[in-house]
Amino acid sequence: MKIKVLLVSSSLGRLNELKNMLSDDEIVIAGVSSGGNDALERVANLLPDIVIMTRDPGEEEALIIAERIALNRPRSFIILLAEQQSVELLRSAMRAGVHNIPPYPKSSKEFCDYVKTVYNNETARLESLSVEQKLTWSSKVITVFGAKGGLGKTTLAVNLAVKLAESRKKVALIDLDLQFGDVNIYLDIDPVDTIFELAQEPSSPSIDLLRSYMAIHSSGVHVLCAPKSPEFAELISADTVKTILSQLRTYYDYVIIDTPPSFNEVTLSAIEASTTVLFVTGLDISILKNSKLSLSVLNSLQQIDKVKVIVNRAVNIGSITLDDIQKLIDSPIWAKIPSDYKTAVTALNLGVPFVTGAPKSELSQAVSSVAALLIDGTLDYDSLSAKQRKQLGIKRTRKESKSRKDRS
Ligand SMILES: Nc1ncnc2c1ncn2[C@@H]1O[C@H](COP(=O)(O)OP(=O)(O)OP(=O)(O)O)[C@@H](O)[C@H]1O
Ligand SMILES: [Mg+2]
Repeated sequence: MKIKVLLVSSSLGRLNELKNMLSDDEIVIAGVSSGGNDALERVANLLPDIVIMTRDPGEEEALIIAERIALNRPRSFIILLAEQQSVELLRSAMRAGVHNIPPYPKSSKEFCDYVKTVYNNETARLESLSVEQKLTWSSKVITVFGAKGGLGKTTLAVNLAVKLAESRKKVALIDLDLQFGDVNIYLDIDPVDTIFELAQEPSSPSIDLLRSYMAIHSSGVHVLCAPKSPEFAELISADTVKTILSQLRTYYDYVIIDTPPSFNEVTLSAIEASTTVLFVTGLDISILKNSKLSLSVLNSLQQIDKVKVIVNRAVNIGSITLDDIQKLIDSPIWAKIPSDYKTAVTALNLGVPFVTGAPKSELSQAVSSVAALLIDGTLDYDSLSAKQRKQLGIKRTRKESKSRKDRS
């Protein structure tokens, strides 16, 4: 069955241009309209799957028509092409019920692919609303955090999520690096919706609605991507994030959260909502100094008990040992991940996480062991072989050592 499209524009030139661009075996143009009542009548008669509208700067009518279509015929999904995109326009369009507001397409293929993606995603969204979902109460929320940029937070978050999904767990990956999030690049996905579109929902979203804003990666991980443009970040509040996380944990077994390189309100609300904080650090003195400061902030916020320190790019450099690091940051090291630039960067450039693309690499093995430890919930040292313990460089956390002592 072909996707039925109605084109609406007050400009004849635009209508012709769009008609020519929409040449694809899966798409049929059911009609064209110059707008106003004519557009509404055509929607009612033709029942299009997609309505593509254009809006020139300052033109109000397009949004009014869009709102009426969205209210009366939610099965006709609207795409609003706008010459100039602004936060203001996006806000008004969202209020009118339009979620898909791309710039004018550059090529026929890009345009047709976009129309097909919108159709598939919106259809899935409507379907998900009518399906009853099984809820879970034992969800783990894991925030990957670190005191600097480039430590490997996103690398760890993405690979952990994919690894956890391999063990048939329901996994959500949330990119809370709201300005410069790049989880979509690591997973080679081009999401239609992001957390920004979700944040425009007028009331608290249900889990089904929330899921419809997430992209589905081939590994099975559901991904809520960061906004497409940095200026949208400020429109997402810590409260919104709190609500989103509390809904997600009713459905997913694991919610993995990637964060920006510094504290902000959104990151703090994620940390507070987490069951575990994987705190990534590295081997140079500047990272360690910042890590110590951040850990003491987490301590004063009473979040330190959730923290598990992971040393990434751990290589034997002689001048600094793991013991030195533990003393420097005044915290025990929970795990370490080896340095393997070739595997890490190849995975990034291909958009294929190394736990899938290079599962035998030492890097994948180390991340897999961390995933296994997270699945087990607590660290069962006795079940790990001496080699595994050594490979991971695992030490008991202060709290765990204490509770062992207390028990014995
Ligand atoms: N264990 C590792 N060995 C070698 N290279 C790594 C390792 N982990 C990550 N990298 C590389 O380091 C770079 C930065 O990684 P990543 O984007 O995950 O860091 P980040 O902490 O998320 O940075 P930002 O704070 O800027 O988002 C990437 O090129 C990644 O491939
Ligand atoms: Mg990152």
